Amino acid sequence: MESAEIARRFLRFFEERGHKIVPSASLIAEDPTLLLVNAGMVPFKPYFLGQRKPPASRLATAQKCVRTPDIEEVGKTTRHATFFQMLGNFSIGDYFKAEVIPFAWELLTRSESDGGFGFPEDRLWATVYHDDDEAYDLWRNRVGLPEERIQRRGLEDNYWHMGVAGPGGPCSEIYYDRGAEYGKEGGPVADEDRYLEVWNLVFMQYQLSQVRSKVDFDVDGELPSKNIDTGMGLERMATILQGVDNLYEIDTTYKILDRAAELTKTRYGRDHRADVSLRVVADHVRTGTMLVADGVLPGNEGRGYVLRRILRRTVRNLRLLGSGDDRYMHELTDVAINVMGEQYPELKADAPQIHGIIDAEEASFLGTLRTGTAIFDVAVEETKRRSATTLPGEQAFKLHDTYGFPIDLTLEMAAEHGLTVDEEGFRRLMKEQRQAAKADAAAKKTGNADISVFGQLLEASGKVEFLGYDQTEADTNVAGIIADGVPVPVAGAGSSVEVVLARTPFYAEGGGQLADQGVIRTSGAEVEVVDVQSPLAGLVVHRGKVRKGELRVGDEAQAEIDVERRRAISRSHSATHLVHRGFKNALGETAAQAGSENSPGRFRFDFTASGAVPQSVLRDVEDEVNAVLINDLQVNAFYTSQAEARAMGALAMFGEKYGDEVRVVEIGDYSRELCGGTHVHSSGQLGLVKVLGEQSVGAGVRRVEALVGIDAFRFLARESVLVAQLTEQLKARREELPERIDGIVTRLRTAEKELEKLRSAQVLQVAGDLAAQARDLHGVSVVTHRAPDGTGADDLRKLALDVRGRFPADRPAVIVIAGAPSDRPVVVAAVNEAGRERGLKAGQLVGVAAKALGGGGGGKDDVAQGGGTRPEATGDALRLVEQAVADQVSR
Ligand code: SER
Repeated sequence: MESAEIARRFLRFFEERGHKIVPSASLIAEDPTLLLVNAGMVPFKPYFLGQRKPPASRLATAQKCVRTPDIEEVGKTTRHATFFQMLGNFSIGDYFKAEVIPFAWELLTRSESDGGFGFPEDRLWATVYHDDDEAYDLWRNRVGLPEERIQRRGLEDNYWHMGVAGPGGPCSEIYYDRGAEYGKEGGPVADEDRYLEVWNLVFMQYQLSQVRSKVDFDVDGELPSKNIDTGMGLERMATILQGVDNLYEIDTTYKILDRAAELTKTRYGRDHRADVSLRVVADHVRTGTMLVADGVLPGNEGRGYVLRRILRRTVRNLRLLGSGDDRYMHELTDVAINVMGEQYPELKADAPQIHGIIDAEEASFLGTLRTGTAIFDVAVEETKRRSATTLPGEQAFKLHDTYGFPIDLTLEMAAEHGLTVDEEGFRRLMKEQRQAAKADAAAKKTGNADISVFGQLLEASGKVEFLGYDQTEADTNVAGIIADGVPVPVAGAGSSVEVVLARTPFYAEGGGQLADQGVIRTSGAEVEVVDVQSPLAGLVVHRGKVRKGELRVGDEAQAEIDVERRRAISRSHSATHLVHRGFKNALGETAAQAGSENSPGRFRFDFTASGAVPQSVLRDVEDEVNAVLINDLQVNAFYTSQAEARAMGALAMFGEKYGDEVRVVEIGDYSRELCGGTHVHSSGQLGLVKVLGEQSVGAGVRRVEALVGIDAFRFLARESVLVAQLTEQLKARREELPERIDGIVTRLRTAEKELEKLRSAQVLQVAGDLAAQARDLHGVSVVTHRAPDGTGADDLRKLALDVRGRFPADRPAVIVIAGAPSDRPVVVAAVNEAGRERGLKAGQLVGVAAKALGGGGGGKDDVAQGGGTRPEATGDALRLVEQAVADQVSR
């Protein structure tokens, strides 16, 4: 039975039993305590906690999930995967244990021809929480499962919670016996490889306040109602129903594995290490594809880091399989898109963007591997030279931080050289860095408040209505005030506050658009708003200072935004849409938007591209966009269904595609995007768009910066003044300027070279004179000379060597030249071979001179250089050197 069919059957079964089928939520969890959705119930947590009203009391889903804590186990066992789908039926205060257990039994044992999964009854086992007699009784008497196939287990196995504060409760699990060839008798208690867990029925009835570990938590009380949360691993079911040995061999992953084997010319099932790599590739390619499709971009923090690690582990394993510098991700992603596309049709529609992002990450990582390997080799050499066996933690951290080397890669490569890595040191540095980054991000998003405070406010205020699409001011109420991170009923003049309003015209920073600023007035108080954030979906927090009076919760208020700022930001936002479309037209659909920032008069737009964007393309896009402005296209915003928006070809930033209703912003027929931001009414209002340039901002992502409206005009006006000045100064027409400047620069370079030559010649001219004037000290020719100030250190050296060369080989000679290339004195000494035989050493002589000059220096016996800080001591320094020579040769 195919995976897609397993999901269909499950959902149909529960639909027939009154459940509303809810599509899978995005992998990007809305829940601020989680990075990624890791269980089927995650999107329903607010329903269990009674915070939100569910769309129906019976729900069923096939939910995409990602779990990475056991990522190292992937491929080594039969059942660890980073991506999986959890089939689940849920009851929010509707049915409970007495219904859910028979439901599960019926679906599992009903024959395949009758819409079930056709499991033989005698292969199924059940476990219950140790004191849950009710569940035990249901299995024993209602279902009729024999006593010996029901096992009681403790907290570790039969209690479920999210690992953080939230809902939880005892559970009952259903296991399938794969047969004697898979392990020993004795049920799940004895062997969880032979007895495979297929379904977890959680009796969700408690509210947990503190969760310290799986078995150590505080129960706060009962949830508002008794609920059911079940989870059936689709991939595990497929393993059984497709009669394969492990998760990586089921229909959806095996196709990827098979293609990877073909591309790397590896035979699956021959060699354990190669098999593990193939399975990792199969699992990770699918996970990476699903994450990118949900809007995660590779990065160094949070979800971005999870994705980056998965993609880089894939590339690394492909290399272990012998891919070398060949790039296979595109083909493998293609397979993943095709196999998963049946259940998630949006994958096919988004294929160009998905490829764009994954291909770029692969290219950048291969580059990283090349550079990083060179750096790694140096680190290994240094470690070995110190006769150490451990690569320092700082090196591992640097490889990670600067060159993107995952630690497991460093460990593996170090082991290949017989070295270990100071992992503890590495982790300490990582932790320090993460904490710094976290503190930064948290402070920005939430001010100084703990996120739970916002949860309470949202519960109290409900979803805040945004009026700012058509209003710049509004009458509203103060719904909550936070000062110093805690809710307060009143705040006085001078205090920094975060204010929640019942309704607001203020746009909270989001979707690349900067926040509005403005003022909130009540009868007694005035608050200047400098920032607006939405720390939780539905909640808007205005940050600022109480300028005067006392602000109170419950006060009537007028909220008014800074209209000029908003207009300028809206112009930037509309311009971003146009430029986005322009780049897609020019570079193809793979140029996916990877972030943007719309500020007043200026915007930047990041998108994926494999290399620099040529100037000519930038000019073309700019041209096309400005033509759209002149045509003054109407801007429309409207709400529609997801499907409808897609059918119209609206560009979606990934991750925005899950609401039932989406907002589409269209600019004439030119651009159409899903967008929650604010915009101009017609494209003519932008006036002018000026693209400033583009640059790389990391892994396959380019950034374009541009100006809009009056800022664009002023920029061009300034450039124009500049050009006018140049034509004036150079006495040339505008179009002649480049050529004229080119000519000047060339002439200047030639002149500089000439000058340099002349100076050298001049310096060397004195060489003959100096040699002729040498003094004789006990049979040694000694030349000391002070060169004119400004003579370069190189010339001093050349001169010393030239003079030395003028003495016959058997004539001992010492030459010491001093000078001051800048305000610091320099001294060079040269001794020929005959001189060295008399015991004279250039390094030593320079040492004597440099000391007198207030500095240091030294070097080899034949030539040496030094310097100091006191040019006025040059005469003394030269005399001291002569003295030192005399002392040496008179011995
Ligand atoms: N929440 C439970 C689990 O994740 C059942 O859905 O296993």
